[in-house]
Amino acid sequence: MPLPHTPPPAAAGASHGAPASLPGFPPGFAWGVATAAAQIEGDAAGRGRSIWDHFCATPGKVKDGSHIDIACDHVNRHAVDLQLMRWLGVDAYRFSFAWPRLQPLGRGAWHAPGFAFYDRLIDDLLAAGIAPHATLYHWDLPQALQDDMGGWQSRDCAALFADYAAEVARRFGDRLAGLATHNEPWCTATLGYQTGQFAPGLRNRRAAFQVSHHLLLSHGLALQAMRTATRAPLGIVLNHTPPWAAEPSEADRRAARLADGLSTRWYMDPLFLGHYPADVLEHLGADAPQLQAGDLATIGQPMDFLGVNFYTREWLSTRQPPLPAPGALGFSDMGWETHPQSLTRLLLRLSAAYQPPPMLITENGMAHADQLLAGRVDDAARTDYLQRHVDAVAQAMAQGANVAGYFCWSLLDNFEWDSGYAKRFGLVHVDYATQQRTPKDSAHWYRAFIADQRAQRGAAG
Ligand code: FCB
Repeated sequence: MPLPHTPPPAAAGASHGAPASLPGFPPGFAWGVATAAAQIEGDAAGRGRSIWDHFCATPGKVKDGSHIDIACDHVNRHAVDLQLMRWLGVDAYRFSFAWPRLQPLGRGAWHAPGFAFYDRLIDDLLAAGIAPHATLYHWDLPQALQDDMGGWQSRDCAALFADYAAEVARRFGDRLAGLATHNEPWCTATLGYQTGQFAPGLRNRRAAFQVSHHLLLSHGLALQAMRTATRAPLGIVLNHTPPWAAEPSEADRRAARLADGLSTRWYMDPLFLGHYPADVLEHLGADAPQLQAGDLATIGQPMDFLGVNFYTREWLSTRQPPLPAPGALGFSDMGWETHPQSLTRLLLRLSAAYQPPPMLITENGMAHADQLLAGRVDDAARTDYLQRHVDAVAQAMAQGANVAGYFCWSLLDNFEWDSGYAKRFGLVHVDYATQQRTPKDSAHWYRAFIADQRAQRGAAG
């Protein structure tokens, strides 16, 4: 099938070539794009309600007042989106299963049309030579579980998640190149239950840390259940925003250490070292989570890959007023500072401190205030961001980090959670009124870059 909307020719003078400075990545290194169910799928009638449907319907929660009933209408347009991936030449596609599409109430009956949709998607990807990497939970909890048991506040939710995971593994596992339990459990717990910025919108620190423990427990239970059902590589996807002390003062260093504990070590330590970080437990005091005997052993299941999502660093200044982040390379449309050195540093630090299995950069990308003008989106800033971060990955690998793939966030502009449709992360522009897709200049760059990598592989034999 031809591309539905022919990509514009490279604009005169614009360079879409691969950056000269980059070395060839090893053969087998996967270049991909990523999405998530709630952000692109739409087809609300074809699934159960999720906590994001409920959140969107609550006035004041999503900045542009939008919803996810249609989003990118991907369920009806997945063939078009697959054509875009083929055009890009990606090796791999990371997507998520919508739990409420497969099991509308989060327990009980399975939903056959949901399984049929993902069956077709996976088979079409495989037929196109694109490796499917899936995530079980990218934040769209069935609303029924929120209503019935307070969502992840309940330990029972972890057991139900393991049942769901086992069924997905049984049905799809052997066709998947990777299956991750959670996407960014820090966001689920902290933004969902502590700050209230994300669904379900609670504001309770003690609840949030109990949730984080239940998420980790659910990961361990799911891994155990899936191992008996599939030989697919299994893992988890964590987000990291490496903290930097603005000044070498004791106060800034302490703030940076705690920030690191609350985000990276709170998840990495139990997964790989068998304990929660002592300094964070002390900081939490009575808000520390309740554990049961054996929980940490369950959480520490061996994994086949570790997904690493990286966008920016966290700048910590305890002065009043705080010192602003330097922003030498600028800030994205989210206000996030571009700081690729933090990615190199992060990958080396994770390697040294945790000896993880092969890492996948499961998300990296940039929001930009894109404009479609005469059929073209000039997003040179995004191309620059992507080049610098791919280079940062290459630098970490040259120093020994074991990285097996890189997924750009995102294939398409999509629903950016509490920002609604106002923030655009896609390589491909989406006109939400017409659902027309237009590859941006950055998509042309990524395509040329992947082709160049493939040519180098070919030349190396
Ligand atoms: C990550 C999320 C992803 C997307 C990007 C911008 O935290 O995993 O869904 O929203 O941020």
